[in-house]
Amino acid sequence: GKSGYDHFMLKEINEQPTSLRQCLSGRVDELTGEIAVEELDDLDTPSAVQFVACGTSYHASLYAAALLRDGGVPATAYLASEYATANPPIPEDTLVVGITQSGETADTMSALRDAKSRGAETLALTNVVGSTAARECDHVLYIRAGPEIGVAATKTFSSQLIGANLLVEKLLSETDTHRELITALRDLPTDVQTILDESNAEEIVEQFLDSTAFFFIGRGLHFPVSLEGALKFKEITYEHAEGFAAGELKHGPLALVTANTPVFAVVTGNDESAQKTIGNIKEVEARDAPVVVVTDGESDAERYADAVLEIPETNERMAPLLANIQLQLVAYHMANRLNRSIDKPRNLAKSVTVE
Ligand code: F6R
Repeated sequence: GKSGYDHFMLKEINEQPTSLRQCLSGRVDELTGEIAVEELDDLDTPSAVQFVACGTSYHASLYAAALLRDGGVPATAYLASEYATANPPIPEDTLVVGITQSGETADTMSALRDAKSRGAETLALTNVVGSTAARECDHVLYIRAGPEIGVAATKTFSSQLIGANLLVEKLLSETDTHRELITALRDLPTDVQTILDESNAEEIVEQFLDSTAFFFIGRGLHFPVSLEGALKFKEITYEHAEGFAAGELKHGPLALVTANTPVFAVVTGNDESAQKTIGNIKEVEARDAPVVVVTDGESDAERYADAVLEIPETNERMAPLLANIQLQLVAYHMANRLNRSIDKPRNLAKSVTVE
């Protein structure tokens, strides 16, 4: 059942401190600083990694690929439905990772089979034990999020991001950010709980009931989150929403920005990248668009915002996960306010088994 929540989606959003603890359980040793995933013991370090996935899982793939590239491993994320026609070369010792919550998505399975037939080693990052992806791939890493009933993926996306980190730490030899990551992982469930307890997302959506479109921007690791924020929003509110790389706004989308198009901007830390995003925020502010900033308060981004969604300070890799929780709540509360069919949006299925 829904355990007293109005929707499975809200229940699953609120389950995240628990589902994340489950995902990390026995895999991270805070004392020794070791991250060990038993299932991956026999996985050798690949020369390159290709990710294949759809929808929300594709957004997790963009994040995972960015982490690997940051560690010096050539890595690319492909939309599974485009993989066959993209027909990327598969160098020797390439690992192809399918990220799929259900483990049954036809497009993803087809890309994995294609990669396997062309000689790649395959790995499934999935939630469902014994799923097709888990059975057919050479390796499997379970995200242990528990069953997800709502069609919109929430807790499984957060766990995919953690699964990506576990995989990356396994594939990269000890990174200099390793210690910091262990601390952030330790604090993660509490940080998520803080957001769930204190979020003002429900109040914020009230001002936007008559808006014409909703935009989400972020750069670097926040770019996949801007895409995910928009996907969740359009999926359950039926309102027009788009996610953009913050720097791309001025290359076209800015033409859509008006006083009637709220822009949700994710900006954490206060480095050069954050400052650039603040520059992009000023560009939309100049077009009178309402700006909602999702931030840890490290920069002065709030100065340019009409509303703020706060997240606790954490490390660079966990900030996107925390920011996304605020955007899940924004999508949920907007959809709820508009009386949408939140757990079963029109035209959508939980598991897409046709190509
Ligand atoms: C969005 C959503 C879909 C799925 C996509 C892939 O909320 O749930 O975009 O992410 O259909 O599904 P899986 O991960 O099961 O392969």
